[in-house]
Amino acid sequence: MSSPLDVFRDDLLAGHVALVTGGGTGICRGIAAAYARLGAKVCIVSRKLDVLEQTAKEIGAIAVAADVRKPDDLVVAVKTVLDRFGKLTTLVNGAAGNFLAPAAALSPNGFKTVIDIDLLGTFNATKACAEALMASKDGLVLNISATLHYHGTPLQIHASAAKAGVDAVTKNLAVEWGRFGIRACGIAPGPIGDTEGMKRLAPGDATEKAKQFIPAGRFGTIDEIAAAAVYLRSPAAAYITGHVLVVDGGHCIATPSVVGT
Ligand code: HXC
Repeated sequence: MSSPLDVFRDDLLAGHVALVTGGGTGICRGIAAAYARLGAKVCIVSRKLDVLEQTAKEIGAIAVAADVRKPDDLVVAVKTVLDRFGKLTTLVNGAAGNFLAPAAALSPNGFKTVIDIDLLGTFNATKACAEALMASKDGLVLNISATLHYHGTPLQIHASAAKAGVDAVTKNLAVEWGRFGIRACGIAPGPIGDTEGMKRLAPGDATEKAKQFIPAGRFGTIDEIAAAAVYLRSPAAAYITGHVLVVDGGHCIATPSVVGT
């Protein structure tokens, strides 16, 4: 079966070394697999070592168990990468946590937990990688956010706030770290099929209903997000920084219309 990744040269990412948080499953597993397929050395990071090790074996990566809420874990992960591969050129911040919850019922700790994983976790991993990315002189911080915060999204106050913060981190890093040869970019995925996120956010028959609000008429695929991540890491994107690329089939710009289709 063809994949959007087929358009890329097999050795496009040779010489790159990537650390991918949340790389054990879902979208970030897809990004890690695509980077490895195209010649990069890849280390995937998440909390669950058994899942990580299985994925690492399947995609040709190494695995380090780490919780992005624990800065010391990330320092160990970066040291492992440097010991094994000698450098680090790319950080993909993809670790995230989410659930549906009405704002009025959500506990402060529920809100904080998602901020801690998504936003603080992005900062923690970025800080742990800073020196190595600067040393590479061709660093990329690629933050995976969402489109939730472009409008108000019911039951998602915690994740929307976290992802808005992640997009702010992307812009700030682009401005502060350009002089060190580091670009910072983001990808904001829309609804992507076969992911934990979709299972959590559109359970049951909400999955089918959701498709009518997507101009493309379908969910995206993990490989379509991975292709965007490859493009942003490739020389073709060398002058792109501070930009968050929306990959959502038009979902976030569509509003329901009472006339026509
Ligand atoms: C309300 C909830 C809740 C729920 C947890 N909490 N689940 N509140 N509704 N469904 C509250 C708890 O009551 C608790 O607050 C606090 O959150 C912490 O919960 P813990 O279970 O102790 O935390 P932890 O074990 O660290 O788990 C983190 C988690 C969990 C986020 C809550 O779901 C998780 O680990 N998820 C990882 C996988 C994941 O979520 N993948 C989907 C990513 S999709 P109290 O007050 O009781 O102490 C994604 C897409 C984003 O991120 C963008 C989409 C477009």
